[in-house]
Amino acid sequence: MHLRRKLVAGNWKMNGSLAALAELGPVADAARAAGGVDVAICPPFTLIAPAVTRAGGAIAIGAQDCHAHESGAHTGCVAVGMLKEAGAKLVITGHSERRADQHETDAEVRAKAEAALRGGLLTIVCVGETDAERRAGSHVGRVTTMLAGSLPEDWEEGELVVAYEPVWAIGTGNVATPADVAEMHKAIRTHLVGRFGDRGNRIRILYGGSVKADNAAELFAVADVDGALVGGASLTAAAFVPIVEAAAG
Ligand code: 13P
Repeated sequence: MHLRRKLVAGNWKMNGSLAALAELGPVADAARAAGGVDVAICPPFTLIAPAVTRAGGAIAIGAQDCHAHESGAHTGCVAVGMLKEAGAKLVITGHSERRADQHETDAEVRAKAEAALRGGLLTIVCVGETDAERRAGSHVGRVTTMLAGSLPEDWEEGELVVAYEPVWAIGTGNVATPADVAEMHKAIRTHLVGRFGDRGNRIRILYGGSVKADNAAELFAVADVDGALVGGASLTAAAFVPIVEAAAG
């Protein structure tokens, strides 16, 4: 068996509705048929519990954020225990939209990731450079700095996953080239192995940013691409199922 199973995770962002959960039926069918691929969907908080019912175990349902604390006076926030009670199996932390809109720092992302892992969740920590950083040639250094600050030092439970999502590729249609992705995923793997030893070889690294049916296979063929974090193309089964199928090879 390959060292790392592919994971295809959809991030619905602030999209979706109870009616939209009908999309999960064909995705669940595709996930069962694909075999050998892990499939996940992260809808808004309010849809997690009904999505779990709809997914019927074939799709892991997760959240797009969590709080670092177990409970307390944090109006509007949601704790890991609450996510688990709703049936979530995973959580995304440090998405670039939260780093930008909610001003989340590496230290906050790390505290959230630690809380999520402590709770036994699969935890996708997102990193990625801006267009200006790439143009300046500082993209690898920037992402390495983000990894250094955002990843937990040690964890016993859960599973740590890294998502490389260049900010300039998110929602723009400007997918990174296989060469760009290869360079960055190699650098991320080097960081992970340097820091966590052989455990770093088992951490899945996802690519995210304008992944679609027509570019997925090419991206999945790149070394150290262990799956995808998909935004817009995860909102409908018609767009998402071909990506799941591409991951199955
Ligand atoms: P798009 O696939 O819409 O570019 O979004 C990527 C993303 O941000 C997933 O978390």
